[in-house]
This record gives sequence, C-alpha cells and structure tokens, in this order.
Amino acid sequence: MRRPIIAGNWKLNNNAKQALELVTLLKRELSDVSKVDIVVCPVFTVLMEVSDCLIESNIDVGAQDLYWEDSGAFTGEVSAPLIKDTGAKYVIIGHSERRQFFGETNETVNKKIKAALKHGLIPIVCIGEILAEREAGETFNVIKAQCQGSFAGLSSEQMLKLVIAYEPVWAIGTGKTATPEQAQEVHKYIRELLANMFDGETSQELRIQYGGSVKPDNIKDLMAQEDIDGALVGGASLKSDSFVKLVKYYEQ
Ligand code: PGA
Repeated sequence: MRRPIIAGNWKLNNNAKQALELVTLLKRELSDVSKVDIVVCPVFTVLMEVSDCLIESNIDVGAQDLYWEDSGAFTGEVSAPLIKDTGAKYVIIGHSERRQFFGETNETVNKKIKAALKHGLIPIVCIGEILAEREAGETFNVIKAQCQGSFAGLSSEQMLKLVIAYEPVWAIGTGKTATPEQAQEVHKYIRELLANMFDGETSQELRIQYGGSVKPDNIKDLMAQEDIDGALVGGASLKSDSFVKLVKYYEQ
C-alpha cells in the first residue's frame, strides 16, 4: 500500500514572517493527520526557521532545488549537506520552472538525484510534457526520455527512496488541470516504464504525485485514480485554508 504524500511548493514566495505564520497555522490545523505525509518547501533563506518551527510536528520540510557538489567554488549554489543541515528531509528536483528558466536538463537532474540520495534527502523528481508536446502526441516519448535520463544508473533500492511528481507543464499555475483520466493515463504509463527499467515491485511501490493546479475542488477526482499517490501543490499551498483542505482529503 503506497502512503500518499502532499507537498506544498511555495516557489519564490513567503518571507520569514509569512512563512512562520503559515506553518504555525498548518501545524495546528494538521496535528491530527496520520494517513498522509505532509511536506512544505519554502525558499532556501527560511528553510532552517521553518524546520525549527516544525520540529516534533507531522509536517516535513523540503528545499526546492540543490547543487550536486558538496562544497567548493560554486557561487550562489546550495548543496545537499547544507540542506540536510537545516533539518529539511526532502528536495524538489527538476521542476519544470527550473527546466524552462534555469537550464535544468535530465543530466543535471540525474546528478542532483544522486547527490540528494547520497546525503539522505528524499528527492521529489518532477517530470511532465509541455503543451506543444501533448498536442503533437509526444507525451509518452517525453516522459520516457525524462525518466531514462533522470534515473540513469540508479538501483531499484535507490528508486524506492524517491518520489516522482508528474506535472503536465501546461497545467502548472494556469488553473487548467489535467482531467483525472489524462493524469491517470500518464501515471500508469510511468509505472509500466519503471517496471521495464527496474522491476515490477519497484514500479508498484514507488509513489507518483500529480501536480498542476491542484485545488480543494478538484483533488477528490484526481486522487481517486489508481496510480496517483498525492499531489505537488503550488498556488493552493500558499494559503493555510486551501492546503489544509487538500491534506484533509485523505483523512475523511
Ligand atoms: P500549481 O503549481 O499548483 O500552482 O499549478 C504546481 C507546481 O508547480 O508544482
């Protein structure tokens, strides 16, 4: 049985005051939640404060990116050991905004996953097609290339330590969600792919989140799909009431 996971990707939002206000509310409202893993991913500058605030809570913290070297002359970068040092447990890798705006490739994603795993961080690895690729009927090919490139050289054991987030890029921040059927179709395809690349057990046990305009009013139908194990949430994770509703979907 795969345990669902709901992660809030705050992106470039929330200063220290806003971040602490938000997690203080979440901590209170979600204290009795037990059926779902909960993660918030703030900006680097508040990772430690947010982690400190969430010590002994049922909410974990994640970073939004990392660099694959541990230390050295890499101005502006943040490494896995430094993220670990803040108390964070997760790290988002390969988000489509990093692929689009910051030159992230499947090769860099692969290096980042290996660095995260080496230091005991749980990678949330994002994959997904852009609109033109979907319209050209290329979705499965894009997903295949992303999985083959991103997970190259990893063992089944390592795969089971990470989480995949399928995020159709055209659905991110657009209010345009994939239909539950569209999402399920790709999630199922990812599992088949993983069964080929690794083995059946790995593909069945690995958690695959859906992301892209997940909101309280559409979570039910998306999460009801067989191969969807939670959500990576942007906009709706910035307000406590909507994020609480998303998490509590699993507690009914
Ligand atoms: P969204 O973002 O929920 O605002 O669409 C999702 C994401 O980018 O992870």
